[in-house]
Amino acid sequence: MPIPVIIDCDPGTDDAVALLLAFASPELSVLAVTVAGGNAGLHCTLPNALALTALANSPTPVHAGADRPLLGRFRSEPGVHGDDGLGGVKLPPGGQPAPGLAADVIRSLLRSHPEPLTLIGIGPATNLAIALATEPALAKKVARIVLMSGSREAGNVTPEAEFNAWSDPEALSILLDAGRPVVFATLELTAQALVTPARIAAWRARGSGSCLQAACDIQASVPPSPRFGRRGAPLHDPCAVAWLIRPDLFTVRPCSVRVDLGPGPGRGRTLFDPGGRTGDPPNATVLETLDADGFFELLGQRLANLP
Ligand code: BDR
Ligand code: CA
Repeated sequence: MPIPVIIDCDPGTDDAVALLLAFASPELSVLAVTVAGGNAGLHCTLPNALALTALANSPTPVHAGADRPLLGRFRSEPGVHGDDGLGGVKLPPGGQPAPGLAADVIRSLLRSHPEPLTLIGIGPATNLAIALATEPALAKKVARIVLMSGSREAGNVTPEAEFNAWSDPEALSILLDAGRPVVFATLELTAQALVTPARIAAWRARGSGSCLQAACDIQASVPPSPRFGRRGAPLHDPCAVAWLIRPDLFTVRPCSVRVDLGPGPGRGRTLFDPGGRTGDPPNATVLETLDADGFFELLGQRLANLP
């Protein structure tokens, strides 16, 4: 039976590939896509999610969500994702957002679905946190929360904080306190998923479908990261989705995790304690290693199966 999931996202060059991977994968049943502002403003991320869903010919409803974090002001990431969130790659426009706002729809699906649902969070965690904070009893209907979030060492937006965790740390803290299993694809994991020109070329050679070619164009727009000697850029968000599809490509470790909610320069950094030094019981699972060749092969196969 496919795993029923809700994907909360902020497309986003890497969110785009994560969504296409999910739509192409029979292991998952995507009940809804909910969207927040993040990599770009909601006025861009929402049409991007709609366009990607239409391009994949997916019937999945797409819902608008938060355009800002729970606290503080909204900040986007144009240096990586361009002003429009997709690196300037133009897709045919999608349809209209489905009725209902993200947090309401998440709660409604949790309430009504016969099985517990898996929540996949690959943007700022605002929508998921509002849903769970406004009806905490629904946490028992959450099978697990799988996040691209956090870093164990260096950050990518401040010296210590990863973008999604930093964008809405209070929301991440609410998810960590929900009492459900949380799985983290951190920056250390996604650093193992470098998109290089050679990997894009290998995808391109797999076919002429619109989704495959759009994924290649979008990835080609991402500036190579100085963190990796400009060899390529990490493909963060598809790691979280791929773990649900092919957990055999990963190794994992239980861990306790907290997020820094202070106002200072450490705000949004995640504190992973795999050795148990804090005395906190493990509240999360951290994805530690990735079979990168297997991951890119999976993506190439699945993207090539889409329209
Ligand atoms: C995360 O932040 C965004 O820029 C990406 O889409 C990813 O979700 C990586 O830090
Ligand atoms: Ca994202």
